[in-house]
Order: sequence, then structure tokens, then C-alpha cells
Amino acid sequence: MQPLPGFRDFLPDDCARRNYVFAKWREVARRYGFVEWDGPVLEPTELYTKKSGPEIVGQLFNFTDKGEREIAMRPELTPTLARVVAAHDRDFKKPLKWFSIPQCFRYEKQQRGRLREHFQFNADIIGEGSLDADVESIALCIDLLRGFGFGAQDVVVRVSDREFWIDFLRAQNVAEEKWQETLQIIDKSEREPRDKTAAKLGPLATPAFEILDGKGGSEKLDRVVAALRARGLADFVQIDLGIVRGLAYYSGVVFEAFDRAGKLRALAGGGRYDNLIGQLSDGAVSLPSIGFAMGDVVLGELIDEIPVAKQQMENAIASGRNLDIYIVIAKEERRADALAQIQSLRDAGFRVDYPLTPAKVGKQFQTAEQLGARVAVLFGDEWPQVRVKTLASREEQLIGNEESLAYLTSLPSLSSRAERSGVEGSRGPTDR
Ligand code: HAM
Repeated sequence: MQPLPGFRDFLPDDCARRNYVFAKWREVARRYGFVEWDGPVLEPTELYTKKSGPEIVGQLFNFTDKGEREIAMRPELTPTLARVVAAHDRDFKKPLKWFSIPQCFRYEKQQRGRLREHFQFNADIIGEGSLDADVESIALCIDLLRGFGFGAQDVVVRVSDREFWIDFLRAQNVAEEKWQETLQIIDKSEREPRDKTAAKLGPLATPAFEILDGKGGSEKLDRVVAALRARGLADFVQIDLGIVRGLAYYSGVVFEAFDRAGKLRALAGGGRYDNLIGQLSDGAVSLPSIGFAMGDVVLGELIDEIPVAKQQMENAIASGRNLDIYIVIAKEERRADALAQIQSLRDAGFRVDYPLTPAKVGKQFQTAEQLGARVAVLFGDEWPQVRVKTLASREEQLIGNEESLAYLTSLPSLSSRAERSGVEGSRGPTDR
């Protein structure tokens, strides 16, 4: 039995990678003052048919439930966020800075970088219409990527403005009901031959290509780049009016993050959506908003391609996963004493493992090494003393079992466990 096409099993190594990515997302989001929230996986289909646009709606995993309700699995989080924020408008002081890590489901063709489920880090600023919020959002996107070990030589955030294109469509007398379709053509133009795009655009082709080729600037985007320059992040951004975004609700600045080599699909995407909350709440609540989402699939592909990022991940996973202490039971008569001590060591916060069934001493030491234990403690003939062996240096110390907890706590190689990054659910004091 295989998983469904586009769905993943997460074996322990995959889970460790996923936890690393989630921990980094959370850490950087908190540095920016964002707080975590979440919503339901299932929503009324109508939440998406109303405003996300045809692309997402065509990709819905949807069904009719036993109560005859039309239901969809969330393809993205933004409509849920808009619904939740409108419902709780009075409960929170604005602006909100909220982040979330939903699993999202899209019934699309499986290909490199695109699956039918993925995890998405979302960060949104709600209730702030100034360009400073746009800059803060893009800066967070860049700092997340920096957090994974990428430099400006590895990634770029391409920034554009949906409003610029709306003004263009107005100036070209394009009827409003054609805007969305035209924006989709422009959004796809980079991925298809020019003559094909030209045929779809008709008389708009020449002026649109002039803009796409860099003729025509945007004072708003220049200000965004200047503000990012002041933060030392300008090397990571590039103005590119070819970015329009597929989702229908964007209304202003939009952006997407890519690998510099241009080999992969977008790492992240987002922008300003000042009208969505108003539209979904039928005008009851209106709040300017900006945000973006970064997916785990393309991010994982890029981490594997960039050695520094890969090494950083592997180090974090190893330090988060390794055992502190392996208990070697050399004499089965000592098993009960060993188990009592294992309990105390685990209560003290150490990661401890031991052989569940009798095994040769050599085999037990081998297991200790494989599990990355720093120390092995041998329960055997020397009882009531135990033999503590630091595995890296091979140093050994015979110590009374009663004193061994205090001794192990004082070992420098074990006290460093407090410095772990929080990967794999470590309970160290740095895990705020
Ligand atoms: P999106 O561009 O549709 O935006 O998705 C954001 C990111 O999620 C993409 O750049 C990509 O990395 C990842 N992603 C999307 N679909 C898939 C897929 N099928 N397989 C793997 N990864 C995928 C949104 O979803 C907006 N709601 C983001 C947003 C938040 N805008 C404002 N706030």
C-alpha cells in the first residue's frame, strides 16, 4: 500500500527535518514579535470560491459531508485568517502580527516542488495599511531565509505591485471583469513563450511587455527597497513587475522568493490584501492586511542544494536527537537497580536509553555509539559502583551509584545539552 499521490510519509529522519524547519520558522517569527495561531483543516467550500480566484478553486480537495455541507480541505490559510479576524475584530488591539504553520491541501498535478499536501509558514500583519508593514513583512521573509543559512547569492525576493498593474489596466480601458484574467496571463508570462502570451494579451501585449522588460518604474517599490537597504537587506530584493501572484485577493505590493539559480519553484509568496476581510465579512469589518507564506517542499529542496544550509540543518538535527546517556547492563541482576537510576536520570532531564532485553556488552556499547550517546554508564560487577565512560574521549571513572546523578550533571559534555536549539522538543532552558 502506497500513500496517495502527492502525500508524504514522514519517517523519523523526515520528521527531524520537518521539526528543524518548523523550529526555525517559529524562532525567527518570534524575533519579529509574531504570535502563533491556527484554524481548522476543513472549511466551507464557499470560503474559497468567494475570493481566492479560479486557480485555487480548481485545486480544491472538496466533498459533501454527511450533513450535506459543501466542505473543502484548506488549500491555504489566508481566507481562514480573514474569517477569524473578522469574527474577533473587537477582541484584539491592532495591528495583529500572527503566524501559523498549517498543512495545506491542493489537488494539483504532482511535480518537483509541488505536492498535494504541504506545510506552509504563514505570517500576516492585520490592521496596518502603511508601507512600513509591507517592508516588515518582506524583511521577515528574508530573515527566515537567512535563518536557514542562505545568503543573497542563494535567494532573491522579487517585489512587485498589483496596484501598478490595476492602474495600467484602467489606463488601457480594460473592463474590470477582465482584470483577473489579464493579471493571470501576466503572472504566467515568465513561464511561457512570448508569442503565446502576446496572443492572449492582444493589443495589451506591447505596453505590457515594455513594463515587463523594465521600462516604467514604481516610486512605491523604490521606497520599499530603500527601507530594506536601511536594514541591510537590499541585496536580497529585486523589483520585478513580472510578479503578479495567482491569487485574486491581492491589492498592492506583492512578492515572491526564489532560489537565485532559478532552478526551483517559488519558496514563498505573498502581498497586500486590503479588501479580503471586508469582502468575506460583507463589509462588517474592514482591515488592511499584508502577509506571505513559505512552503516546506521547495525550501527542503534548496536546503539540500546549498551546502552551508544543509550542514546547519544536519548539525541542529544531530544535536537535537543524540542521546545523553546509554545505560549498559552488563549483569542482568543489576537490571532493577539500573532501571531505578534510569528513572532518576530521565526525571533530571537527561535523554537516556538502555537495552530492553539482555545483550552482549560489546553490542550495547555499539548501540550507545549509534544513538550518539555522550556517556555510557555500566552496571555490572563493580556494584554498588558504576563505570561512567565518556564515549568521545574514552575516559572512564568508577563512581558510587548514589553519587552518579550529581557526577553526570557536573560533566561538561552533558551540561551542554541546555544549549540545544529546541529541535526535537528539547526541554533546555534556551527553549523559550
Ligand atoms: P501561495 O503562493 O499559493 O500563497 O503559496 C505559498 C507557498 O507555498 C509557495 O511559494 C510554495 O512554496 C508553497 N506551496 C504552494 N502550493 C504548494 C504545493 N502544492 N506543494 C508544495 N508547496 C506549495 C498562499 O498560499 C497565500 N495564502 C500566502 C499569503 C499569506 N498571502 C498573504 N498571506
